[in-house]
Amino acid sequence: MKTFYDYYHNPVRLSFEDHPFSETPKHVWVICRYKDQWLLTKHKDRGLEFPGGKVEEGESAEDAAVREVKEETGAVISYLSYIGQYHVEGKGGTVIKNVYFAMIDSIDDQDHYFETHGPVLFRHLPRNLKSNDRFSFMMKDEVLPECLKKVEKFN
Ligand code: GTP
Repeated sequence: MKTFYDYYHNPVRLSFEDHPFSETPKHVWVICRYKDQWLLTKHKDRGLEFPGGKVEEGESAEDAAVREVKEETGAVISYLSYIGQYHVEGKGGTVIKNVYFAMIDSIDDQDHYFETHGPVLFRHLPRNLKSNDRFSFMMKDEVLPECLKKVEKFN
């Protein structure tokens, strides 16, 4: 278990065990790989981040991961693997989020990307991500580097 504070100084607990905080998390986040690039989305308010969002009523977390990636980037997932789960004690309550790694088969053009401006590809994520205004706060705590270490084994 890793513990740290996020960009807003909220306490975060991150674990790579099998669903340590909840069997039915309400949020998902998906680290996406398309060919030799990272696939992100540009959220209208938060900026660049890996796609994700809320699990809908009656939906599994895996189904939410597939749906959110499609909605926010147009991408079709060919392989999805659970990486871990994190718990954030935010001002507005507790958020429990599953993190997945996804391999992308294809990226369809869409008229709408919901609350985002659609897909953005990166060959390398910038080193200065934490101080880069273009990136979302979600990309700026230890969740991303710790999860990327786990993802290395897929590449
Ligand atoms: P909507 O309900 O869709 O409008 O979004 P929201 O931001 O109000 O709600 P959500 O439940 O997604 O997030 C509530 C708060 O939890 C955010 O403002 C953050 O403080 C925190 N939070 C949500 N997701 C993350 C995350 O991935 N990382 C971190 N560190 N905090 C998060």
